[in-house]
This record gives sequence, C-alpha cells and structure tokens, in this order.
Amino acid sequence: MTLHVAVIGSGPAGIYTAEALVKQSAEPVEVDVLERLPTPYGLVRYGVAPDHTSIKSIANYLRRVLELPQVRFLGGVTLGSHLSVQDLLGVYDAVVYCTGAMVDRKLGIPGEDLPGSVAATDFVNWYCGHPDVDPDRFTLDSSEVAVIGVGNVAVDVVRVLAKTSEELRATDVPHEVLERLGESEVKAIHMVGRRGPEHAKFTLKELRELGDLANADVCVRPEEAVVATGVDFPRQVQGNIKVLQGWAAREPVGRPRRLDVRFWMRPVEILGTERVEGLKLERTRLSEEGRVVGTGEFETLPVGMVLRSVGYQSVPLPGVPFSEETMTVPNEAGRVRDREYVAGWLKRGPTGVIGTNKSCAADTVRTLLADLEGGERVPGGGIDALLASREVTPVTYEEWLGIEAAEGELARTLGRGERVKLVGLEAMLRACRP
Ligand SMILES: Cc1cc2nc3c(=O)[nH]c(=O)nc-3n(C[C@H](O)[C@H](O)[C@H](O)COP(=O)(O)OP(=O)(O)OC[C@H]3O[C@@H](n4cnc5c(N)ncnc54)[C@H](O)[C@@H]3O)c2cc1C
Ligand SMILES: NC(=O)c1ccc[n+]([C@@H]2O[C@H](COP(=O)([O-])OP(=O)(O)OC[C@H]3O[C@@H](n4cnc5c(N)ncnc54)[C@H](OP(=O)(O)O)[C@@H]3O)[C@@H](O)[C@H]2O)c1
Repeated sequence: MTLHVAVIGSGPAGIYTAEALVKQSAEPVEVDVLERLPTPYGLVRYGVAPDHTSIKSIANYLRRVLELPQVRFLGGVTLGSHLSVQDLLGVYDAVVYCTGAMVDRKLGIPGEDLPGSVAATDFVNWYCGHPDVDPDRFTLDSSEVAVIGVGNVAVDVVRVLAKTSEELRATDVPHEVLERLGESEVKAIHMVGRRGPEHAKFTLKELRELGDLANADVCVRPEEAVVATGVDFPRQVQGNIKVLQGWAAREPVGRPRRLDVRFWMRPVEILGTERVEGLKLERTRLSEEGRVVGTGEFETLPVGMVLRSVGYQSVPLPGVPFSEETMTVPNEAGRVRDREYVAGWLKRGPTGVIGTNKSCAADTVRTLLADLEGGERVPGGGIDALLASREVTPVTYEEWLGIEAAEGELARTLGRGERVKLVGLEAMLRACRP
C-alpha cells in the first residue's frame, strides 16, 4: 500500500514537509506538492532579498526534494479556485496546508489607504518580480520615503531603496524593475521603530549590512540610541545596540543617500489629500505595564511614500478552519482535523527564518504518520483525472526548469548575473510551453 499525500504550497514549509514524509514514512509514500504559481519555493523566490544570493541558494537544497522520485510538483493549481478541500480528501489520504502568510498587517491609522502608502508585501513582491504585482506599479519619484517597522523585512526594503541600480544589476530583479530603481529620486530614507534599539526585531548580520552601504550614510540620533542601563540583554540585542550606538557617534560622509534609523516614534497619521504628503509621528515611551504609549510630542516627516513593514499575515483557505485571533490555522502538533494538517507560517504565524520551517514540518509529519498508521489507503492517480476534468493542466517540474532556463537566457542577453526573473504569468507559461 502507498500513502498519498497532498501538500498545498511549495514554499520552504511545503517542501520540507514533502522531504519529511519521504524520510519518515515506513511505508511507500507519494507526495504531490500543489502550488498556485507556476514556480516553486514560495518566499525563497518571492521574498528573500535579491542581493542575498547565498540565502537564495537554499533553493538548491529544496530542488533536490522536488527531484525525489516520490515527489511531484504540480504548479498553477490553487486550493480554493481549482480544487476544494473535499476534492483533495477524495483523492489523497491526507492534506497538509502550507500556504504561508501572504498579506500585510494593517496599521489602523488615518491615511493608510492614500496612494503612496504601500504595504511592504507589495513592494517586496514588486522587486522580486511576483506575478501578482505589475512591474510598473511603483515609481520612486519622492525624495523622502519612510519605512515603518524595524524587522528584517524593513531592513531588506531599506537596502533595496538605498542601493544603486548598478549594485543590483547582477541580481535576478526583473529588468523593468531595475530600470525603475535606476530612475529613483529617493535621497532620504527614514526607518521608524516604535520602541527602542533593544526591542528592534532585525538581526545583527542584517543590521550591520546597512552600515556597509556604499551609496548611503546611516544616521542614528544619539538620544534615541540610549538604552536602559543594568539590563543583561541577549547577545544579539547587545550586538544591535553596539552597532546602532556606533552609528550615532559617526558623522555622515556625504554619500548620495541618507538613511535615518529612528526609535521611540510611532506613526499616528499618514498625511495628504490626493497622495501621501507626510507622515505624522508621535514620540513614545513604555508604560509601567510595558505597553507603547504616546508622549504627546509630535513630528512630521515630509515624505511622499510610506512603506508599511509591520509584519505579514495569513489568509483563510476556503473550507479550512482559521482563527481570526491568531490569524493561523488552529492545530494540535500540526493536526487540524481528521486527515488535514498544517505547517510553516500558516501554522505558527509569520515569524522565523527558512530553517525554522524544517523542524516545524517534521513535527507535523510525525503527527500525520502516527495518525494514519495502519489505516485504509486511497488508490493513486485520482488527482490527475480530477484536474483533467476541470481542464487544469498543471505546470510540471520539467516545465518549471524551462522557466528557469529562460531566466538564465534572459540574464545572458541583458549582460546581467546568473538569471533575471521573467515578469507575468504569460511570459512564464510561454517559456515553459513554447
Ligand atoms: C520579505 C521576506 C524576506 C525573507 N527573507 C528571509 C531570509 O533572507 N532568510 C530567512 O531565513 N528567512 C527569510 N524570510 C522568512 C522565510 O521566507 C519564511 O520563514 C518562509 O518562507 C515561510 O515558509 P512557508 O512555506 O510557510 O510560506 P511561503 O514561503 O510563503 O510559501 C507558501 C506557498 O504557498 C503558495 N500558496 C498560497 N496559497 C495557495 C493556494 N491557495 N493554493 C496553492 N498554493 C498556495 C504560495 O504561492 C507560496 O509558494 C523572509 C520572509 C519575508 C516575508
Ligand atoms: N535575512 C533574514 O533572515 C530575514 C529577512 C526578512 C525576514 N525574515 C524573517 O521573517 C519574519 C517576518 O519579518 P518582518 O520584518 O515582516 O516582521 P517582524 O520581525 O515581526 O517585524 C515587524 C516590525 O513591525 C513593527 N510593528 C508592528 N506593528 C506596528 C505598528 N502598529 N506600528 C509600528 N510598528 C509596528 C514591530 O515592532 P514591535 O516589535 O514594537 O511590535 C517590528 O519592528 C521574521 O521572523 C524575520 O526575521 C528574515
């Protein structure tokens, strides 16, 4: 008997789930990884910053999983529109949901919906060439930009804004986007944290990179870099504080762009009528209970664009339980309901690095295999007939390799690095089904 499992989503969580199923199962197993895009790897392809090539190379590990004989990639198949949960449970023994966290969290302040107020999710999708976002979506025509949030995504966004297009030329940024970045008029970037340096979410390695930017001076106000004395901060935090205080003691050397890293300031209103004309901030402090509270002291930044990088969140999948409180799928050790499981950001929320999803997926698979041990098995192949009856022709792994090859060819034609992303679903499908 063979165990047939559908994994929904081909990001790190989905692919680590497929790997764990193959490694952990004592009986033969066949895993189909269903993905709404024609391309695998989720945020590794459409999230990890283009200039972080060593992290992106994790795709070489993930690809080996998709090449296992027990694993199939079925791209261009969406749970919710092409297939329902009931469809899947009819043709698989179990289903594992790994659809990540695709939308931005809201700030809930006036002006948030003005043109020029942008979710980091959209901006990241733009520079990563995600087919959901048009390459003409952003024109960087403001001289000052604010980035709200001091997590690693904010740091990525700031770095992309601060670098020259020449510095990004060897990356896989779509060519249309590279041209827009080349026309950027951005001179000042304000990265705004609502708490202190000791509370910032970015990691030391990522923070340090900002200090090495060739095209931008990094400035920190000495009074905002002060932290409580006599507190034994974790090593990472101590490192962050040291770097930030070092920058506070440094003078700008006149680089073309300037990055102001701000602390103890929260956004209270995005100003403007037709589009963003400014960002009103309020100085903050922590209350006795440790909550961020305003001090009544305000400041306005004259920015024409506000990038909101305050975290991602998952969206409910049709027919799958979802908690509006945690914005995740409620589960016990990965089990959602009979024969339904969850892993990755959809299970834990949008935190943690790529590797975190490996142990998360392994835990879910342990639960799944224990639950299904010795049970009845469905016959294989049901999904192919079902998709054919719906006139859905999945993008195969070999076809995805065709997209990859076309991206390599495009890079050679443009005299850029190893590959340049193709933009739009049509171009991708043309490349894999000439
Ligand atoms: C901007 C950004 C940069 C990051 N950079 C790094 C980094 O440098 N280093 C690091 O270690 N971590 C980084 N992370 C964190 C890392 O990307 C995540 O931990 C990881 O991607 C989460 O994996 P996941 O599989 O749960 O979700 P995802 O990677 O989001 O994968 C979900 C997949 O499900 C697919 N999907 C969604 N809905 C459906 C549906 N209905 N049907 C079928 N398929 C569907 C999506 O298209 C996607 O491919 C970054 C995160 C972000 C947001
Ligand atoms: N290179 C890498 O390894 C890398 C790169 C990118 C992402 N990632 C990972 O991906 C995950 C997601 O990253 P992320 O940056 O999106 O999220 P994050 O780490 O949770 O950071 C979110 C930031 O937004 C702030 N924020 C939240 N709500 C706010 C509000 N209403 N007003 C003002 N500020 C607000 C938070 O401040 P508070 O702390 O005060 O809430 C925090 O500074 C993280 O685990 C991250 O490490 C890793």
